[in-house]
Amino acid sequence: MKTTDSSGDVRLSGISKTYGSFTAVHPLDLTVPQGSFFALLGASGCGKTTTLRMIAGLEEPTTGTVRLGDQDVTALPPYKRPVNTVFQSYALFPHLDIFENVAFGLRRRGIKSVKKQVEDMLELVQLGEQARKKPHQLSGGQQQRVAVARALINHPKVLLLDEPLGALDLKLRRQMQLELKRIQTEVGITFVHVTHDQEEAMTMADTVAVMNAGRVEQLGAPTDLYENPQTTFVANFLGTSNLIEAEVDTKSGDDIVLKAGGGKLVLPEARCSAPTTAGGRVLVGVRPEKISLTHADDAGEIPEGRNRVTGRIADASFIGVSTQYVIDSPVCDELAVYVQNVERDGRLVPGAEVVLHWNPAHTFGLDATQDIDAGIEEEAV
Ligand SMILES: Nc1ncnc2c1ncn2[C@@H]1O[C@H](COP(=O)(O)OP(=O)(O)O)[C@@H](O)[C@H]1O
Ligand SMILES: [Mg+2]
Repeated sequence: MKTTDSSGDVRLSGISKTYGSFTAVHPLDLTVPQGSFFALLGASGCGKTTTLRMIAGLEEPTTGTVRLGDQDVTALPPYKRPVNTVFQSYALFPHLDIFENVAFGLRRRGIKSVKKQVEDMLELVQLGEQARKKPHQLSGGQQQRVAVARALINHPKVLLLDEPLGALDLKLRRQMQLELKRIQTEVGITFVHVTHDQEEAMTMADTVAVMNAGRVEQLGAPTDLYENPQTTFVANFLGTSNLIEAEVDTKSGDDIVLKAGGGKLVLPEARCSAPTTAGGRVLVGVRPEKISLTHADDAGEIPEGRNRVTGRIADASFIGVSTQYVIDSPVCDELAVYVQNVERDGRLVPGAEVVLHWNPAHTFGLDATQDIDAGIEEEAV
């Protein structure tokens, strides 16, 4: 069932959308490779749906072009584009059974013998047993799979999904994420998936475009975005980052040495997106799970060559698989540290003096002229 032609890629060139004086999407260049699972990730109102609707032809771009493979579809109405959309509200036909809901697109095109195609499609979404049920007899996740089957049966080159799992509870959503990923892998069609849920985007997509206020802030593979954020927004919106204000001291080989709160921190120059002239300000970033905690009494046992910062435990939350610490330090208030619960040190309780240390290779550097808290409020919504 895998498609082999190269016409399923999506190319947006200078595409933008303004409503009066408000710009919902700033001129955007984006290429979604054929057969990829691509996610547009961002907080509510950042322009994801508008971008998706411009691809579908449901919204006319203010500037720019939309190409699907070799074809410029900018002027084409939605029904002439080889694209289908799945929305959060799946809007199945309540009076038709599941089979007929899926068959609908074929019947509308006058295709008489639909049985084989519909059965194959129900098989794909693992609803073969449910063919004769009505939508209200299915769970939310099953109904959403019917919506996906109903869209895929038209053989679109590209499937657009706008927060398709938004109405499902967390556990079902996690199941459906894996399920959609499997379906995409099986059919090989380009999926463009819109979500505000960073875990969802990272679980499902090959490539994630992080959007903020009508712009793509950064685009890349999930691990790349997570390990090498280029902006404070991406660092904070995708998971949690500790950002420490520091000053460039010297260079040492491929590393930059920075001063922070009287101590020194080392950062690979290749992982720094800020200017690195001596005296310049840099935000030094490190993820909470990259940091180890050692009680101050044992500080002598910490290996050489690690970045280290002293502090005091302000709070510790045991959450089973790990313990999440909040640590006040002269370099930064409220550093987050996640420690796997393997061998627990009973001394690591609130009030304890500790040393935080990590491999400098896990450090990243960001331009200090940015808002250090960008992306934090958005994630809490
Ligand atoms: N038809 C419209 N008229 C005016 N403003 C709109 C219209 N559609 C969307 N917007 C605005 O454009 C911005 C982006 O909207 P949208 O693309 O729906 O965001 P998202 O899907 O990321 O939540 C929002 O501020 C929204 O209020
Ligand atoms: Mg939306």
